[in-house]
Amino acid sequence: MPLTSKEPIYLEVDPGRFLISRSANMQRAWKLIERAAPTDTTVLITGEPGTGKELVARLIHKLSPRAAREFVAEDCNAVAPTLLESELFGHERGAFTGADRPRIGVFELADGTTLFLDEIANLPLEAQARLLRLLQEREFRRLGGRRMIRSDFRLITATNADLAACVRAGTFREDLFHRLSVVRIDLPPLRERRQDIPLLVSYFVNHKRLRLKRPGVCRVSHDAVDLLLSYNWPGNVRELENLVETAILECPGDTIEAAHLLFATGAGPQGPPVEDLDAPLRVARQRVLASFERLYLLAQLRRFRGSIKETARHSGITTKHVRALMRRHGFDRRDFQPPVRLRSLARPKKNQAG
Ligand SMILES: Nc1ncnc2c1ncn2[C@@H]1O[C@H](COP(=O)(O)OP(=O)(O)OP(=O)(O)O)[C@@H](O)[C@H]1O
Ligand SMILES: [Mg+2]
Repeated sequence: MPLTSKEPIYLEVDPGRFLISRSANMQRAWKLIERAAPTDTTVLITGEPGTGKELVARLIHKLSPRAAREFVAEDCNAVAPTLLESELFGHERGAFTGADRPRIGVFELADGTTLFLDEIANLPLEAQARLLRLLQEREFRRLGGRRMIRSDFRLITATNADLAACVRAGTFREDLFHRLSVVRIDLPPLRERRQDIPLLVSYFVNHKRLRLKRPGVCRVSHDAVDLLLSYNWPGNVRELENLVETAILECPGDTIEAAHLLFATGAGPQGPPVEDLDAPLRVARQRVLASFERLYLLAQLRRFRGSIKETARHSGITTKHVRALMRRHGFDRRDFQPPVRLRSLARPKKNQAG
């Protein structure tokens, strides 16, 4: 079945680890993943923190002809800038003080497989120049080395920064930016694909309750789901995953209640929009109105169990308008049709060929 079906998508990225979505907002990403995976095209994945960039990179590798070899990942943020070049390109003995033996870099290590460079916006300018040359010539030298080395790696990079803005600010090379973004996959934030929230919650509960030794937890109350649907999720799927984990531990019985949801900010969905104090009045007002619109719609859909007709009648707007608002706020009527039971993941659908 193609990745772009209307049904929820469960794709096994690693054994027991799935990438899940049923949001229409992810359709474009699925199409690009499906098209890029079998090729050697360079892919740039962008999106806010926790949106699943690394998971998508692993999925592309898994669906590619290079899948038999292990995926190589390097986080440009995790290594001190001075060591990063050696980490990437390797070095020869005596290349710098302390280089008392030669070392292979990840570009060499990834020969024949996929190389994932995370947080690429943090690559220092000098390393950017080296990387550009490597991508143009498919050859490079280790630091302090003379021999040209060939490596056949497929490059996937990711960032949560706005790379175009980095180019304008002069911290990222424009030519490299174009080289890296042959295919660009932008992962929408969770608040723009709220249909995925109930799906992800049941997946995380099912996956974590055994490991956390709480096998009895198998339900989520309506109030808890409402709260999850109305929150803004600045930390995206990672934040949701962590929240579910603490909720399972907080839950003494079989049902996760709203009281078990300990939002990291302490404020939760109804907290004061403190960050808006930095925005001009016009922008802040727009945000509050959008947030009110979302909560109002949520309450009506909840009240009428997903009935668009009833919601329209009671809100004094047309059904067309309700549908447009639901699209804007990422709501799916099926999420409001009771009972809210956890979908079993015992036999997840694998909508993929291999
Ligand atoms: N669609 C999804 N389905 C299931 N799990 C997901 C999905 N998206 C993200 N996750 C999970 O959320 C967590 C964060 O994902 P990942 O590390 O891929 O995000 P990221 O965009 O690389 O984040 P960062 O910018 O912080 O590096 C992981 O545990 C991942 O498995
Ligand atoms: Mg990441």
